[in-house]
Amino acid sequence: MTDNNKKLELIELTKRYILQQKDIYGDVLWGNFNLENKINKRKNAKYSSLEEMYDNVKDCQKCGLASTRTKFVFGKGSGDAKLVLVGEAPGRDEDLKGEPFVGRAGQLLTKILNAINLKREEVYIANVLKCRPPNNRDPVESEMEMCLPHLNEQLKIIKPEIILCLGRVSAQCLLKTKMSMKELRGKVYSYQGIKTLVTYHPAALLRNPQLKKPTWEDVQFVRKLYDDE
Ligand code: URA
Ligand code: URA
Repeated sequence: MTDNNKKLELIELTKRYILQQKDIYGDVLWGNFNLENKINKRKNAKYSSLEEMYDNVKDCQKCGLASTRTKFVFGKGSGDAKLVLVGEAPGRDEDLKGEPFVGRAGQLLTKILNAINLKREEVYIANVLKCRPPNNRDPVESEMEMCLPHLNEQLKIIKPEIILCLGRVSAQCLLKTKMSMKELRGKVYSYQGIKTLVTYHPAALLRNPQLKKPTWEDVQFVRKLYDDE
């Protein structure tokens, strides 16, 4: 067989394997997460702890938000959490306090976590952006690009089993997609070799209570995966 034929056969086999997996598991696409995660764990983290990382990055000046922020909002929770929640960016309350999700959306997030029997201290909560965009405007592409390495470093230290993206901005940024929330939720993706799921942002639930039911379904599924680990 020529090299090209070998490649075509491999592509065909891979396609067949994926379709077979889809038949078995439905829309939830399963990768070999454990293997990927093991590879991921071998990649050396730059810092040995979140505290050490925080001390080194808290004065970050990589983007313009440094000049308008009050506090750098690094993230909070357990350094060996199995679940990491990723929001969009700090709002006013977070910017003042230096902690993620402490405003109204944050209080709802606490309730959502409690509903699946998790305490905030057991998980890790962070955002794509560590600094507040003025007037809570959407993050721009360049800010996300410059800030994402911080989140990636945090993930290397924490090594969670599951990531839950809160809202469209976080999901589209991590999964490099423009798909809508409706299309994104209800599936398992992989980010840095970590099982990654998507649900609505708690602020969206405050505006639109109809989103509570699908969010409830999403977090129940997250809890099931969490227990399977
Ligand atoms: N919204 C977010 O996305 N993150 C926070 O920390 C607070 C509100
Ligand atoms: N827009 C968001 O930012 N988040 C949602 O969850 C829904 C719409």
